Amino acid sequence: MKKQPFLFVANWKMEKSFQESALFIRAHSQELNALVTQHTEIVICPSFVALSLFMQHCKSALFSWGAQDCSTYFAGPYTGQVDALSLKELGCRYTIIGHSERRTAYSETNEQIAHKAMQLAHTGIIPIVCIGETLQEFQSGKTTSVLASQLLPLLETITRKETATELVIAYEPLWAIGSGTVPNASHLKNALSSIKTLLDAYCITYKLIYGGSVNEQTITRICTTELVQGVLIGSASLDFKKLKNIVSLHQSTYNKEQ
Ligand code: 13P
Repeated sequence: MKKQPFLFVANWKMEKSFQESALFIRAHSQELNALVTQHTEIVICPSFVALSLFMQHCKSALFSWGAQDCSTYFAGPYTGQVDALSLKELGCRYTIIGHSERRTAYSETNEQIAHKAMQLAHTGIIPIVCIGETLQEFQSGKTTSVLASQLLPLLETITRKETATELVIAYEPLWAIGSGTVPNASHLKNALSSIKTLLDAYCITYKLIYGGSVNEQTITRICTTELVQGVLIGSASLDFKKLKNIVSLHQSTYNKEQ
């Protein structure tokens, strides 16, 4: 079976302004292109407003871009919301939904996240759905049940509506985000394997990625862990040099394995 490209998703959160995003594109889009290979896919997720820059200046790019959220609704009187169709029109191939920062700060529910996934699927955007347990849940051995409770409403909704979609599931334990700590290989493998079992039961086409303190020091350990097909990178993706090193470290590991 052909190995799928390893997926690098840069989540810029609200760290770069419109102008800073424009500068990044101007300075680094050629180099980003050069990092893309048949084994490496790169997706940049800037703020909503910066997406138009990518649409304008990166039309023939080999890398992709995506948003960090979308509305649960198709259209209508929803002040401040951004619809999936507009994201598609802005060239988004992927969109992150259900990030723990949104679940926590905006009380997003699993049901709302399932509706967001449906909106994206209808417009042909691949949802990157974030799930993960808190430190307390991790310490009390609840990882598997928390992941199932976050994933099941999504899988039920998607299969009930018979919407054909590919999903990217990002396992992001909350205790690993911004902490410099990553799960050990056996925890990561067990968590991904529990997610895989659920997705397989619902016959979904998917990719499993990991997020939380991915950087130049942790990438090799993470990308060599069984079942990891990509990474979601926060702070280390803001600096092009760091992002490039992370991608290159993965590529040299990949080449050694061949
Ligand atoms: P860090 O890579 O900064 O830990 O952030 C992870 C994250 O939240 C990506 O979505």
